[in-house]
Amino acid sequence: MKAVNYLLPLSLILAGGPVLAEENSGKKLYEGKGCVSCHGAAGIAPIMATYPKLGGQSAAYTVAKLKSYKAGEIKGASSALMTPMASMLSEEEMGAVADYLEGAAEITAAE
Ligand code: HEC
Repeated sequence: MKAVNYLLPLSLILAGGPVLAEENSGKKLYEGKGCVSCHGAAGIAPIMATYPKLGGQSAAYTVAKLKSYKAGEIKGASSALMTPMASMLSEEEMGAVADYLEGAAEITAAE
């Protein structure tokens, strides 16, 4: 009987786990890597008017931009700030952050 007590919660964790982990990891990366300190909560409240808003942006666009920064292909007024930030991210992490940001504006607006 004891085994049932262990297995039921475990199966619930396994069922809900991947979805939650995915949602959290993009947000965690965005906040943990410091993106939030310039682009603001959910990417919609940048600290400077000249810093781009990221929330609600299509994930494909965001990933493409991050790859270009990492490759050093974007040379702009403030690209020196972004090149090292993008360079910290693997392609997988870029995807996770971009997915989070695509939905972030809506999540925040709905709250
Ligand atoms: C020190 C401040 C700062 C931090 C930290 C920062 N960014 Fe940026 N980000 C900027 C600035 C400034 C630009 C515009 C740069 C330019 O002139 O090319 C930018 C541009 C971008 C763009 C391109 C947006 C567009 O529409 O062109 C993306 C995507 C982006 N940042 C994502 C991120 C992510 C993800 C992180 C965290 C890993 C991050 N940024 C951390 C300041 C920052």
